[in-house]
Amino acid sequence: MADEKPVALEPREDGGDGRRYAPSTARNREPVRDVFAAQGLTSGQVLEIASGTGEHGAFLTDAFPELHWTYSDIDPAGRISQQAWRGAAEHDRLSGPLAIDASSDNWGEVEGKAWDLIVSVNMVHISPFAATEGLLRGAGRLLKPGGHLFLYGPYARNGDIAPSNAAFSENLQSRDPAWGVRDLDLDLVPLASREGLRLKPVIQMPSNNLSVLFRRS
Ligand SMILES: C[S@@+](CC[C@H](N)C(=O)[O-])C[C@H]1O[C@@H](n2cnc3c(N)ncnc32)[C@H](O)[C@@H]1O
Repeated sequence: MADEKPVALEPREDGGDGRRYAPSTARNREPVRDVFAAQGLTSGQVLEIASGTGEHGAFLTDAFPELHWTYSDIDPAGRISQQAWRGAAEHDRLSGPLAIDASSDNWGEVEGKAWDLIVSVNMVHISPFAATEGLLRGAGRLLKPGGHLFLYGPYARNGDIAPSNAAFSENLQSRDPAWGVRDLDLDLVPLASREGLRLKPVIQMPSNNLSVLFRRS
C-alpha cells in the first residue's frame, strides 16, 4: 500500500531524550533483521548512509553483538537523533554520526577504511539520483573485497513496477521532481557493475519493498 511507504516528512515522535521514531522503521526493522540473519550480515564494520532517526543501527546492533555501526546523514536533525540513540545504547558499538552527503566523492573520515557492509534504507527514492550514483561509487571505493552493500526500499524491476509503487513514485515526484522510485535493473545495476558490485538474489519484503544486496568483487 502506498500509505505504508516511508516519506521524508512522515510523522516522527520525540520520546523526550532526542531519539526520534519513524513509523516505517517500526514496520520494517524486524524483516530487515531477519534478512541480516539469513544473509550472514551479523558481524563486522558497518557504515550506514542516510541513517535518518538512527533506529536501524540501534536495533540491529542490539540484535547482533558483533556488529559495529557508524551512523551518517546529510541532515543535521537526523544526526541529532542518531546521537541520542547512540547515547541510549547499552553498548559501545555505535559510532558517528558523521555528516556525509552520499552524492559526494569524498566521504571524509570514512575514506581509507575498508568496510564490511554499507547500508542505506529508504534513501534511493527520496533523494536526487546523484545520491544513488554517489552511494554506488562509495560502495565500490570503500567496501572490502567480498563486502556487501545492502539497500532497502521500493524498486521497479526491468520496467515493471507494482501499482502501489507507481502511485508512491508519483506522490514523491509531486513533492520533489528529483525524487522517485528507481528501476533496480535499469538504473542501478549498470552503475553498480562498473564499481565491481554484483547483484545477489533480491529478497521480496512487505509492502512491495525489496532487500537488495550487492557483493563487492
Ligand atoms: C526516508 S529517510 C530514511 C531514513 C532512514 N534510513 C530510515 O529508514 O528511517 C531518507 C534519508 O535520506 C537522507 N538523505 C537524503 N539525501 C541524502 C544524501 N545526498 N546523502 C545522505 N543522506 C541523504 C535524508 O536526510 C533522510 O535521513
